Amino acid sequence: MDNQQLNKELGIRKEEVEKLLMSYLPSVDGRQKTVFDAVNYSVCAGGKRLRPILMMESFRMFGGTGTVIEPFAVAIEMIHTYSLVHDDLPAMDNDEFRRGKKTTHAKYGETMGILAGDALLNFAFETAMKAFDRLDDLAAVAKALRVLAQKAGMYGMLGGQVVDVEAEGRCDVTEDDLRFIHTLKTAAMIESSLMIGAILAGASDEAIENMEQIGRNVGIAFQIQDDILDVTGTLETLGKPILSDERNGKTTYVKIKGVEASSQEVRRLSDEAIDLLEKTAAHTDFMAALIRQLTVRNS
Ligand code: IPE
Ligand code: IPE
Ligand code: MG
Ligand code: MG
Ligand code: MG
Repeated sequence: MDNQQLNKELGIRKEEVEKLLMSYLPSVDGRQKTVFDAVNYSVCAGGKRLRPILMMESFRMFGGTGTVIEPFAVAIEMIHTYSLVHDDLPAMDNDEFRRGKKTTHAKYGETMGILAGDALLNFAFETAMKAFDRLDDLAAVAKALRVLAQKAGMYGMLGGQVVDVEAEGRCDVTEDDLRFIHTLKTAAMIESSLMIGAILAGASDEAIENMEQIGRNVGIAFQIQDDILDVTGTLETLGKPILSDERNGKTTYVKIKGVEASSQEVRRLSDEAIDLLEKTAAHTDFMAALIRQLTVRNS
């Protein structure tokens, strides 16, 4: 699959995900309407929709059919969006722009930023549980839920954010510390996307584990690329401020190794992911092309 075909396909899939997302959003009325509005604002702001796209492709790769994947694809994007809303708060990275728009707290105030993030996390699980109505294999839905919960929490994304903020301003952060932070704060959500697609399609435990490893590689590479773009990108293309890491005293892979060596590491991790993907019987061109494209992304 060449770049042009990939971009066309990505456009189609992003639209598919966005249509789905919109169909699950709350309507803005009732006394708590401010939080409905802030939730919708955060989700509708845009973004690449990478995690739902990966999840749905993993589902297709393993022969999944039907709509059971849909509530989970929506849920992962809600959890991801909540993580960004909170990541941008003054107490965390203190950023005012996200996805080309004002961050949620900058538009609605800090209190509503906190509550909208909480609301999205809770609503993600309310949404994912709708999958119980869609599949006879209730055990598969329960297993997918367990992965969704675990990879988002203290043993996953949230745990990574904890270590990330505690490392701010320290000059003794090692490569090993960074690998831990990247694995949890970023890779865990990509792992769960790929795993849940496989689980709901009925893939074997071995295949699910393989998808977890692919997700780990892709996720770590994704965060290193994010840190590169924090230095080399622009507000216009990224939709978020550059030099946020330096401003917050973060030690990043780029700070330790430089841009060139960091790019090499992104490529190495992605090549390894594609090797693992090629070993699965269910391999698809789209998945391989997407993983490859993430190594050169500029947004
Ligand atoms: C940003 O994620 C946070 C990181 C894990 C680096 P994305 O780069 O996927 O953000 P959106 O969803 O496209 O805005
Ligand atoms: C955040 O990493 C990863 C999350 C779990 C939200 P960053 O703080 O580098 O993400 P950006 O650059 O703000 O998107
Ligand atoms: Mg952060
Ligand atoms: Mg941030
Ligand atoms: Mg960043």
